Amino acid sequence: MSIEQEIARRRTFAVISHPDAGKTTLTEKLLLFGGGIHTAGAVKSNKITKTATSDFMEIEKQRGISVATAVMSFEYAGLLISILDTPGHKDFAEDTYRTLSAVDSVILVIDSVKGVEEQTEKLMQVCRMRNTPVMVFVNKLDREGRPPMELLDELEQKLDIAVRPLTWPIASGRRFKGVYNLHEQSLLLFRPGGSRLEHHQQTSINGLNDPALDEALESDADRLREEVELIEGVYRPFELEEYIGGAVAPVFFGSALNNFGVRELLETFVQIAPAPGPRETDTREVRPEENAFSGFVFKIHANLDPRHRDRIAFLRVCSGRFERSKQLYHVRHDRKLRFSNPYSFMAEKKRIIENAYPGDVVGLYDRGDLSIGDTLTESEAFRYRGIPRFSPNMFREVINADPMRSKQFHKGVTQLTEEGLLQLFTQHKGSRLILGTVGELQFEVIQYRLREEYGVECRFEPLPYDKGCWIFSENRTALERFIRLRAQQIAYDREQRPVFLARSEWLLRATIDENPEISFEFSSDVTGRSA
Ligand code: G4P
Repeated sequence: MSIEQEIARRRTFAVISHPDAGKTTLTEKLLLFGGGIHTAGAVKSNKITKTATSDFMEIEKQRGISVATAVMSFEYAGLLISILDTPGHKDFAEDTYRTLSAVDSVILVIDSVKGVEEQTEKLMQVCRMRNTPVMVFVNKLDREGRPPMELLDELEQKLDIAVRPLTWPIASGRRFKGVYNLHEQSLLLFRPGGSRLEHHQQTSINGLNDPALDEALESDADRLREEVELIEGVYRPFELEEYIGGAVAPVFFGSALNNFGVRELLETFVQIAPAPGPRETDTREVRPEENAFSGFVFKIHANLDPRHRDRIAFLRVCSGRFERSKQLYHVRHDRKLRFSNPYSFMAEKKRIIENAYPGDVVGLYDRGDLSIGDTLTESEAFRYRGIPRFSPNMFREVINADPMRSKQFHKGVTQLTEEGLLQLFTQHKGSRLILGTVGELQFEVIQYRLREEYGVECRFEPLPYDKGCWIFSENRTALERFIRLRAQQIAYDREQRPVFLARSEWLLRATIDENPEISFEFSSDVTGRSA
């Protein structure tokens, strides 16, 4: 197969949602329909269900042994589909944001009872930054949900994207009858309690005026006719280019738990979701079909098995052909590297691969050379853009409780930073280490992992900051002056870029207003812009 053919058959995406909307259930059902897994429960077992650290650690341990869930690939309808897993827990949202940089499209799951929730908005902001194509699945139609029109309006308003329903629900909750496929003009009837995949009944009808519709839906038929007329009047016809450009999101309704509407979603996905496309770097746009290999690391996973100190770096291939054992160029370190046992993840199995193509995710054993955001190429020096690092909202000073183990302490903190578990800031020429996270649970995980993996005890001192911003200015003197005057509130990130730590949102706003010559940024591209 030519490289063009290899690229054309790949679809790499992520399922995202606010916790509990049904991401895990839908992912599992997509895998079941697609033949990627054969038993229900395979994905679910990886979900972080509670906030307790012990639960999280259990899962982490399992993952350390079998990390196959970071990506799940399967062949369906002649395509090689890869679903990238994202942690559902909000304290690990950063991990999800980074994973979104490695996909070519996403499926967003919304709970029909709750509508658009907080985490959905944040995740969509990240998708909008890169114009990632989005399909929406409105889930849990078997519950008394909000009126579908209202949900669509909310999607448009809160997510800043136009929507276009491709199916339409007939009632909800106990009266839920099924969905009408607007494109194919067919009817899918819902039977409650469907655990088998082929449980629901597809009824072909010849347009909305077919008497078979009245037979199947009884009193709901006329209502459906009215609603469809309304939809066709309100929403413009679905245009593929608008979806690919991230301007319009097609919407499907269903119930993942009941296997309802999932096949329709998957069938449409394989027809419209994009294959890997060109990507921006700091020097030029790179096309996937270029001969020379390139890719970037979007996730690093520690191998929690204490006998193996290595880590697993997940590389998204962006151009050319990745070849096992071939010498690669590590742009940040300006060094050559070689990976002799790269692996991929097919249908629940991890296996060593000889080649990989754009869209593929490759697992690389890493002995500390790789960090999130690193670009690997054949020889050219460029870096992939678009891995956002957001300013944390929890800051604590970390103190090594045992000065005799200072080397291990620094190694542990550095490696956990490279994995993206935390953001590290320094003050007083590096003598004070400040950890920034987006959630409380992360601190517990840091403490646990420093103890378990590096044999180090640490403690945290609270700091009075709840916002950090990277600061930049064209005017060097103004920036230096600001840094001098606010020395107590300035820390430096891993790339030695200055960060302003604010005590409250209100004080931050006031500081921004008082210093118009300084720009305050809430997110920083990992591949870097410097002050
Ligand atoms: P998440 O990954 O987005 O966090 O959500 P997940 O799939 O775990 O689903 C959250 C809860 O919603 C689960 O219930 C799941 O069974 C339920 N759910 C998912 N899809 C549907 C649906 O179509 N209809 C209904 N009624 N419920 C749905 P749980 O009680 O938290 O877990 P479990 O005990 O069922 O595993």
